[in-house]
Amino acid sequence: MSMEIKVDLSKSGLTMEEIRQKKLEIDTALERLWSGKETFTGWVKLPLQQDKNEMERILNVSDIIRQQCELFIVIGIGGSYLGAKAAIDALGKAPDAPEVKFAGINLSATYHARLLEEMAAKEVCLCVISKSGTTVETTAAFNIFKEALIKKYGKAEAVKRIYAITDAENGALREETEREGYTSFVIPSDIGGRYSVLTPVGLLPIAVAGADIRSLMEGAEVMAASPDWDFDGPDYAAARYLLLQKGKSVEAIQHYEPDLKYFVEWIKQLFGESEGKEGTGLFPAGLELTADLHSMGQFLQQGSPIFFETVLNIEQSPVDLTVPEGPLKGKTMTQLNRAAMKGVIEAHSSAGTPVIRIDIPKLDAFYYGQLIYFFETTCAVTAMLMGVNPFDQPGVEAYKKEMKKEI
Ligand code: PA5
Repeated sequence: MSMEIKVDLSKSGLTMEEIRQKKLEIDTALERLWSGKETFTGWVKLPLQQDKNEMERILNVSDIIRQQCELFIVIGIGGSYLGAKAAIDALGKAPDAPEVKFAGINLSATYHARLLEEMAAKEVCLCVISKSGTTVETTAAFNIFKEALIKKYGKAEAVKRIYAITDAENGALREETEREGYTSFVIPSDIGGRYSVLTPVGLLPIAVAGADIRSLMEGAEVMAASPDWDFDGPDYAAARYLLLQKGKSVEAIQHYEPDLKYFVEWIKQLFGESEGKEGTGLFPAGLELTADLHSMGQFLQQGSPIFFETVLNIEQSPVDLTVPEGPLKGKTMTQLNRAAMKGVIEAHSSAGTPVIRIDIPKLDAFYYGQLIYFFETTCAVTAMLMGVNPFDQPGVEAYKKEMKKEI
């Protein structure tokens, strides 16, 4: 087992020569990212310039929250939600940590009414996260849950149970935070929502759930300390770009561990919002295997050839189970899962579908930190190869504006 995240392109249908030909463009993209001159690239050097006091404060506040509540409701959407949700699912919750649930992730009255019911019987804290401070879903849910919190505890105690993460100066949420005196953290102005998981946006909820955020940052630091990209990220970025040029417009990102479901959702947002503009971009789709083989397997084998596959392969499982009886007697689940992955890669690549495999030694905080940085950098570089700005989202702004007109 390798101790690094590795990209296997042997079944991608691409030659190493094709990949090498992209080197110059990749180096230019990397230089732009590291130059400090591009807007919204604050995340690039973030793991190398960690603010130790801020880390200390996040850990102290997370300790307080863990003592205050059994249910920690995080209110935010998009980049103010997916990073924390994905990491908590992937790394698991410590037994003594509060349950972390999310609100403001849709506009469903049913979803939020159920969560409100749950809140009645438990000790609760709220954490509202919004960079702009004006997002409709977040604003609606925060005000509903805040009212319930005040009813439950009275105003003074409720204020001690509200945590806000937002811009340092701008927006209605910052204004309310200062007025009411909520404990708060800042989303750096040079880091956009979908690149913000390694700021308090992700780190506070992840720490409350009990994952080791120091180790997470260490993982990201190891990746960031390799600015020449002597890891395999550039090959993946080049391969994604080349496959798009060859007419593959969908990237079917697959995992064999259900704990990675939201990690794939996080990648979908990162890739989709960063690349999908000006009539280009890969459409990121997520598949959960082996479950989806029994629904999408047919399409993947013989359907429209518009996609390539990216397989997330966790090499080491922390537990295993052995089948005690029947025709599979003596086989372990891990063996079977591995056999499924190998068989599927073989069957699909033989049928002409390009397959990229990303080998991840294991799923712990350190490697998870590496993965975050790996995907953020890959995403930014591929978007630059595509000739689009990885850090804006004019389409999101457009629908938000139209939606507000309807309200
Ligand atoms: O990546 C993005 O910029 C978006 O997905 C935002 O994170 C999302 O729309 C939420 O915005 P805000 O944090 O301003 O509430």
